[in-house]
Amino acid sequence: MEESHAMIGGDGRYSYAKNSNLQKVAADDVKPLIAGAIAENLDIQRVRPIPDIFGVADLGCSVGPNTYFAVKNIIEAVVQKYKSEGCHDSNLPEFQVFFNDHVSNDFNTLFANLPVERQYFAAGVPGSFYHRLFPKASLNFVYSAYALHWLSKAPPEIGDLDSASCNKGRLYYRNAPNEVGQAYSAQFAKDMESFLSARAEELAPGGLMMILMSGRKEGTLPIQSSLGPQYQPLESTLLDLVNEGIISKDKMDSFNMPIYAPSTVEIQTIVFENGCFDIVRLLARNHNFSRMPTAQECRAGFEVIFSKHFGSKNMDQLFDRFSKKIAGMPPLSGDDLIRYSLNIILKRKP
Ligand SMILES: C[S@@+](CC[C@H](N)C(=O)[O-])C[C@H]1O[C@@H](n2cnc3c(N)ncnc32)[C@H](O)[C@@H]1O
Repeated sequence: MEESHAMIGGDGRYSYAKNSNLQKVAADDVKPLIAGAIAENLDIQRVRPIPDIFGVADLGCSVGPNTYFAVKNIIEAVVQKYKSEGCHDSNLPEFQVFFNDHVSNDFNTLFANLPVERQYFAAGVPGSFYHRLFPKASLNFVYSAYALHWLSKAPPEIGDLDSASCNKGRLYYRNAPNEVGQAYSAQFAKDMESFLSARAEELAPGGLMMILMSGRKEGTLPIQSSLGPQYQPLESTLLDLVNEGIISKDKMDSFNMPIYAPSTVEIQTIVFENGCFDIVRLLARNHNFSRMPTAQECRAGFEVIFSKHFGSKNMDQLFDRFSKKIAGMPPLSGDDLIRYSLNIILKRKP
């Protein structure tokens, strides 16, 4: 069954709204990419199935504020494109923006903080982006940032205590046996195919889709994921709690983060096999970790999934200890400093 783990809602100390600056920096960085993709690839004569309405969706938008900046950047770039083709202000389309996330996302906070001066009509669309969410050909631009690395679920066999491929004692698949990495890769391929098939129905011909997500260096195995250093101290904190009898060993052994960082070749293969999109751009950008995510940032993203599996009563203890553990660690160095993010732009084939 598909899992759903939204970020922490509201605007409290551990909320995603207050702890998503790393994602904001990454999304700001691609503002020129959005503008360039729209200027060069949006065919405004073809892309509007319903005259005068331009549909934008942010899939996995969370609670803001990053989604507001992204949507503003997209709309500014589309307006610019229309004007560059001679369209007057009075003839611009009206923008309908759909904010999507899991049903359990805090949509109240998202809507309460929508920019007052916005140039669009806003609607929330709850549900998993691994299924259909919109009517046929009703969208013109789909955006998704730092959400598609969340799988619909961890590969079931690696959490099965009776299976030979159970990923015991690990939170994640870095440095696991190769078959564990392969199981993650296969789950990602299945999920991504479901995602593309649903979007192929919903995106109008000529419509664009921009995906930002964590990725992996080309030519490396899944188990060499560069996301590992981020998870290692969390894994070690959980193992401390197991050794002290606070968390059971079976609980630890059966848990795996449903997160995967693919390579560009994996994405390319899935997109070709799906057959409904042209690849406009696909690149892995490497950048140095400016810093490790703080305990508060990890809590904003992971508390929901951890408390479902390990129990909410253990969360203060887990994240307090994690905070002390990372404070005592030497700074990252060498390859551990490098992260990869994928910039993917696809165009719906006619
Ligand atoms: C790290 S947050 C990114 C939020 C925002 N896009 C940003 O850049 O700040 C990932 C979001 O993806 C959502 N998400 C993960 N899997 C999803 C799915 N299958 N369907 C819809 N949303 C999903 C999570 O609930 C979460 O809000």
